[in-house]
Amino acid sequence: MKLIIDHADLNIIKGIYEYFPVSGVTTNPTIITRTGKEPYEVLTSIREFIGPEAQLHAQVISTDAEGMIKEAAVMREKVGGNFFVKIPTTKEGLKAMKNLAKDGFQITATAVYSAIQAYLAAEAGAAYVAPYLNRIENLGYNGVQTICDIQDIFENNKMDTKILAASFKNTQQLLELAKYGIAAATVAPDVIENLIKNDSVDCAVNAFVVDFNRTYGDGKTMM
Ligand code: E4P
Repeated sequence: MKLIIDHADLNIIKGIYEYFPVSGVTTNPTIITRTGKEPYEVLTSIREFIGPEAQLHAQVISTDAEGMIKEAAVMREKVGGNFFVKIPTTKEGLKAMKNLAKDGFQITATAVYSAIQAYLAAEAGAAYVAPYLNRIENLGYNGVQTICDIQDIFENNKMDTKILAASFKNTQQLLELAKYGIAAATVAPDVIENLIKNDSVDCAVNAFVVDFNRTYGDGKTMM
């Protein structure tokens, strides 16, 4: 399962890239507004940092198909590289996806709350669908099960579309999806940091250092 950062602040993205095995960045309109910067300033600086090969996903604002299609063309041109245009999975969104797919756009169908939306987006030509795990669970449904159902639909119908699971609140949610072989997960930096936080691990590592230094001297290493 590819791990992707769901954020737009370049310094925070750099901090995660330095330590974690991540493969790209996703944003949404709300995340971009939190930077306090102009959208293309944000997206082009992320692109410059992650390089042309890495995935960068950004969302259109228009809610009608024609507007989405026009925005997608401008976004792909301005952001460049391995760009995925995020299109909300509405009726207008499906129309936009069909047209954009014909023109060779890489599409991430977003705002997916149900398996049937995912199926329709895949048929319309989306490369990824992004089900919102935590938000689905907040509505009282089983988010992990919904995503596993989507995976089954894609496999049983021999669809090439992949899942980019989104909206995580904890490590357990991520683990369940990794077990099921979900292609990618986009996760906020605070949740990524928590994936490796474990007092028992720190304790074990510190005990090795204390034992070694007690015998060979303070600050000694294998150098
Ligand atoms: C996905 O496209 C969204 O950007 C995001 O993952 C939603 O996460 P949230 O539910 O934590 O806002």
